[in-house]
Amino acid sequence: DATFAAGLAGQVPRMPANPEHLEQAALEHLPAEVWSFIARGAGSGRTLAANRRAFNRWELVPRMLTGIDTADLTTKLFGTTLTAPLMLAPIGLAGLAHARGEAPAAQVVRDLGLGMILSNSSSLSLEEVAEEAPGANLWFQLHPPKSEALAVSMVQRAEKAGYQTIVVTIDSWTRGWRPADLDYAYDPFLRGHGMGTFLADPEFCRPLPSDVPHGSKEWNENLATRWREVFGHSHLSFDYLATLRTVTDLPILVKGVLHPDDADLAIEHGADGIVVSNHGGRQVDRSRAALDALPDVAARVAGRVPVLFDSGVRTGADASIALGLGADVVLLGRPWIYGLAIDGANGVRHVLEAVLAELELTVLMLGAGTVGELRRCVEPAYHARP
Ligand code: FNR
Repeated sequence: DATFAAGLAGQVPRMPANPEHLEQAALEHLPAEVWSFIARGAGSGRTLAANRRAFNRWELVPRMLTGIDTADLTTKLFGTTLTAPLMLAPIGLAGLAHARGEAPAAQVVRDLGLGMILSNSSSLSLEEVAEEAPGANLWFQLHPPKSEALAVSMVQRAEKAGYQTIVVTIDSWTRGWRPADLDYAYDPFLRGHGMGTFLADPEFCRPLPSDVPHGSKEWNENLATRWREVFGHSHLSFDYLATLRTVTDLPILVKGVLHPDDADLAIEHGADGIVVSNHGGRQVDRSRAALDALPDVAARVAGRVPVLFDSGVRTGADASIALGLGADVVLLGRPWIYGLAIDGANGVRHVLEAVLAELELTVLMLGAGTVGELRRCVEPAYHARP
């Protein structure tokens, strides 16, 4: 209503209302190599595209005259209450999009009663983000590093700083084949970005020389070497979850599951939640679209633990489909970084409000009323029927 009223006075919004259009809009606010690092995927981008296309295989079938005129989207999990089943996916290096890094996004999710999974490759340290957004629902994402001492240190710092869960990402122990980054010869980590949480960690910093001036060429070289030393534990097994269990009381989720057997293994090894994701098509090109993986994983998990979903969610209607197919919470990925790049906290708020508004309207107009009811509103696309 406020938008239409402003239109009467000749004011039109600075940002597109359709979150699908943000990627283009963000082009004007980011250097080409940074935009490509964020927007592009692995290989020829087939999985990136497939993540979006997979939504076309499903349709929402609204029911009419149900008398339902309020939607209750409240979602409870891991002792957290969210106003809607929507959180920000962990995206490292927010400092590439905004001078204050992840802080504006954390403040917006706090104000909206949503949640954020902070990447361990954040630009600010995990403590700074928590301090800048007191009261926010923050979860901490860990890429298991080669050093166990570093993993323990980061997890315990997160617990101490009030983070509510640990999300272990298992699909990125090495980086995918990303031609766009190779064409720009651009690796933000080697340029010292996304190091906020690492540089605040004594285990990470111990081998770094203390007498080299920060920001100097030599310092950056030291940092890049150290980064290569720690990034990506390459011979992990599901037993890693048991190791983490001994050092934290927080719920442990596993992010990057596509195969139902991996969901089973994760749960058998103590995972408290599963995130179905293909990392936004950034890891294995031609891997299965995340949405195509969701129904089988959700069926196998069968309510034992919460199932979260990301990779390809752009709109409230998309979120409705994923929730209808068995996700308990959907994670919004790239769109929040685009919003941050375009207009800082206002941009993130704009993006989240657009998704939330469409989700709420969709639930209402389907005659569903609650997120749980969405499950009877999703069907295979009519034209895809055998
Ligand atoms: C990511 N993602 C990611 N995931 C993670 O567990 N830790 C991380 O540090 C990052 N970093 C990151 C950076 C950038 C630039 C992108 C685009 C993505 C993956 C992210 O959490 C999520 O799985 C995808 O973004 C989902 O795909 P869509 O919906 O963004 O296309």
